[in-house]
Amino acid sequence: MTTKKILITGGAGFIGSHVVRRMVNYYPDYHIYNLDKLTYAGNLENLRDIENSPNYTFIKADIVDGEKMHSLFSEYQFDAVIHLAAESHVDRSISNPMEFITTNIVGTVSLLNAAKANWKTFDEKLFYHVSTDEVYGSLGEEGFFTEETKYNPHSPYSASKASSDHLVRAYHDTYGLPIKISNCSNNYGANHFPEKLIPLAIHNIKNNQPIPVYGKGENVRDWLYVEDHATAIDLIFHKGKVGATYNIGGFNEWKNIDLIHLLCRIMDKKLKRADGTSAKLITYVKDRAGHDLRYAIDATKLNKELGWNPSLQFEEGLEKTVDWYLTNEDWLNHVTSGDYQKYYEVQYTKR
Ligand code: NAD
Ligand code: DAU
Repeated sequence: MTTKKILITGGAGFIGSHVVRRMVNYYPDYHIYNLDKLTYAGNLENLRDIENSPNYTFIKADIVDGEKMHSLFSEYQFDAVIHLAAESHVDRSISNPMEFITTNIVGTVSLLNAAKANWKTFDEKLFYHVSTDEVYGSLGEEGFFTEETKYNPHSPYSASKASSDHLVRAYHDTYGLPIKISNCSNNYGANHFPEKLIPLAIHNIKNNQPIPVYGKGENVRDWLYVEDHATAIDLIFHKGKVGATYNIGGFNEWKNIDLIHLLCRIMDKKLKRADGTSAKLITYVKDRAGHDLRYAIDATKLNKELGWNPSLQFEEGLEKTVDWYLTNEDWLNHVTSGDYQKYYEVQYTKR
């Protein structure tokens, strides 16, 4: 059997690192190429445990660089792509939309072009695009996003992801490129950059800093443990139908303020602080512009077709996540040094 060569983009980031680790460890017959630009969000420390595996290669490159993508496809003859590289933080997309247009839209097209041009036949080839539930817009109190829900993105981030989803489908419909897309809800777990709600709150509680809660804290998100997302990606990659979309979610909705109170209770316990200590840090701040009220995924299709279910209860996953941050202080110190402080000063001054 010839080795399958799989290109994973954005593998040094939060979700990508879990996908890379899973594919390297579970599929020794595959060779995994992790292509990442190493932006502020990419960190090779996330992959220390597998970096010397014989079936793993890291490539530092920018997906926006079309010529480079062409030459890499031509050199390595990848059989499949799992595309995760993106600018991923909604607040950053509000202050700097152009970077999201460039990476998320132009970068995706540059990969699509490289695949289309270099795959002599599309047999046994696959371009799997990893996307978000934010493309569907915002729900009211009731209902769920299904695969049939119309796209209605609101932030520059979600509009750029919606655009990349449409372009991936367009390459399937126009050129016959074999594609799959999944749209997932909010992930949490190890390696999550502390600009997103959960790791930011853990970091701030640990350092006795205010926990910024946007608006009244009433927005709802559906949280999924990152390793469960990686399992779903593995399943869809291997068993999902070509041309299809799958929604992935945790059936686990939380109002932000309720989630923060739960996290505060866990942090009090872990840090051996008196009950209620962490909750005193909760600080209501100006709301996010265009803040989507509620996301909730209906993952029935993925469950019925491929038998996927989330494996962890939220409280259990959150405790595991807190334990990871408390035992990986070096990681947290490293990623919160340098530019991180500057970013936060700007964020807070603007609010
Ligand atoms: P992340 O920001 O943690 O990681 C993104 C990675 O992409 C980083 O390693 C970064 O260096 C790399 N990257 C950025 N620009 C690049 C470029 N031009 N060329 C090459 N590499 C580049 O993001 P994440 O949270 O792990 O999200 C990964 C993917 O999953 C994204 O496509 C995101 O839209 C999607 N997604 C995320 C979530 C979530 O909750 N985090 C949920 C659903 C879908
Ligand atoms: O739904 C999937 C999406 O989830 C992914 O596509 C994105 O890449 C990912 O960043 C995430 O987007 P959100 O905007 O939902 O995640 P974030 O952690 O930034 O915010 C979660 C909620 O918490 C949201 O309602 C905004 C709020 N929030 C966020 C921050 C950073 C706060 O109240 N305070 C904060 O400081």
